[in-house]
This record gives sequence, C-alpha cells and structure tokens, in this order.
Amino acid sequence: MSNAAAVPDTTAPALQVEGLAKHYGEAAVFADVTFSIAPGEFVAIVGDSGVGKSTLLNCLAGLDHWDAGRITHGAVDLRPMDDTRRALWRRAHVGFVFQAFHVLPHLTVAQNVALPLMLLGRDNPAHVARMLDAVGLNGLAERLPQQLSGGQLQRVAIARALVHRPPLLLADEPTGNLDPGTAARVMDVLVQQTREHGAALVLVTHSEAAAARADRVLHLTASGIRTPAPPPAP
Ligand SMILES: Nc1ncnc2c1ncn2[C@@H]1O[C@H](COP(=O)(O)OP(=O)(O)OP(=O)(O)O)[C@@H](O)[C@H]1O
Ligand SMILES: [Mg+2]
Repeated sequence: MSNAAAVPDTTAPALQVEGLAKHYGEAAVFADVTFSIAPGEFVAIVGDSGVGKSTLLNCLAGLDHWDAGRITHGAVDLRPMDDTRRALWRRAHVGFVFQAFHVLPHLTVAQNVALPLMLLGRDNPAHVARMLDAVGLNGLAERLPQQLSGGQLQRVAIARALVHRPPLLLADEPTGNLDPGTAARVMDVLVQQTREHGAALVLVTHSEAAAARADRVLHLTASGIRTPAPPPAP
C-alpha cells in the first residue's frame, strides 16, 4: 500500500503567480507577471514608483481584483473564491505589514497583536507575550499605539502579522517611514522572525539595503517581472 498521500509536498511553491494582468479603466498597471516563491523564501520586489508594486501585493493577498492570470497559494487557487471566502482564507494564511503600520489606535499593543488569534478563535495570551518579547516590545504590552515610536509601531505590526504563524508574509515598504538606523533594526526583526516562523516573505521596497538582504530580487515593470542580470564577470 502506498503512503504517498501522507508525505507533504515540500517542493510545491508557497506562492505561484501566472500571467497576472491588471488595468484601471483603459490604463494597464501591469501585464504578464509570472513568478513563484518557495516555502520559507525571502523575495524582494522593486520597481519604479507607480509601476504597481502595492497593487500587486494587494492582489497576492486577495485584497484587490485582477483582470487575467492566476494566483495560487500552496494548493489554493484564489481565482474562483469570492471576497468573503478570500477574507476567511487570508485570516489564517497571510500576514500583512504596511508602511503606515495600520495598528488599531484604541487597542493596546497586546490587544493589537492578539487580534489575528482572536479572529481565528485561538486566543493565547502567553503566545502573544512571547511574540512581544521576540520583537523587543517587552514591557510595552499595555501601551496605546500613540505612546509608541515609529520603529516600535512597526514591530507591533510585525508581531501581529506573524502571531498566528501564517506561511506567507507580505510587506509593503515596511521601513519607508523610519530613519535608516531604525529601518535596519526593524528589518533585522522582520527577517529574523520570518525565518524563525519558517514563513515565506515578499517584501516591496525602494531601499537597496533592504532588498540586498533578500534571497532573490525581482524587478516589476509595466511588461512583467524580471530578475536582474548578474553583474558581469571581472
Ligand atoms: N484605485 C485606483 N484607481 C485608478 N488608478 C489607480 C488606483 N490605485 C492605484 N492606481 C494607479 O495604479 C498604478 C500603480 O499604483 P501602486 O500604488 O500599485 O504603485 P507602486 O508601485 O506601489 O508605487 P509606489 O512605489 O509609489 O508606492 C499607479 O499609476 C496608480 O496611480
Ligand atoms: Mg506602493
């Protein structure tokens, strides 16, 4: 008797994008975007302002609609799902970190980080406390967001994005609002925590320093995605 079905397929990509295209009215944002991300891989997406990086990231999370092509997460094809099913799927499978933090102003740090677990019916204060420790926010659990610095706010957002252990983290210029020193420290936390959780990370960034830390860098252009050519041999 074969037990092949019980063996997880570790070669399946965490994320696969095939021929993705998106328009706003007559204007094409991007066309023919094709790439895949391996489980646990860290990929940076760079490109000119307005080329569609944030739009692409929103499509990957099922937060925005696209016109052609396919987005598959593991074995899950987003295309046939309606918005409600996408929202339920997203809750468990994707963490999102935005440039503008998007923490809820009336909730404490601990409540913000606990939110994804509560939505999944997996409330776990001890795990939230461990997560706050891991991102260097111990002692700040009861503060409100307005009592935090930008770097601390982004750590709250990172802890919240990973607390429920999603296999994929999407980050849209998460250090864009921070000074270079704080940005480097927040990147340390983001990369270290993503690796520790075994999650794949797709990072949209204008920062060369941040992109340099990725396993792979993809350039988004109006005509698709390209991998930069390696530097010429000396
Ligand atoms: N709701 C909308 N309606 C019409 N056009 C839009 C809408 N949202 C975005 N766009 C356009 O789509 C294009 C892509 O925008 P997007 O925000 O994805 O770019 P980006 O690559 O993330 O830019 P940046 O690096 O400045 O953040 C831009 O030309 C923008 O003006
Ligand atoms: Mg953007």
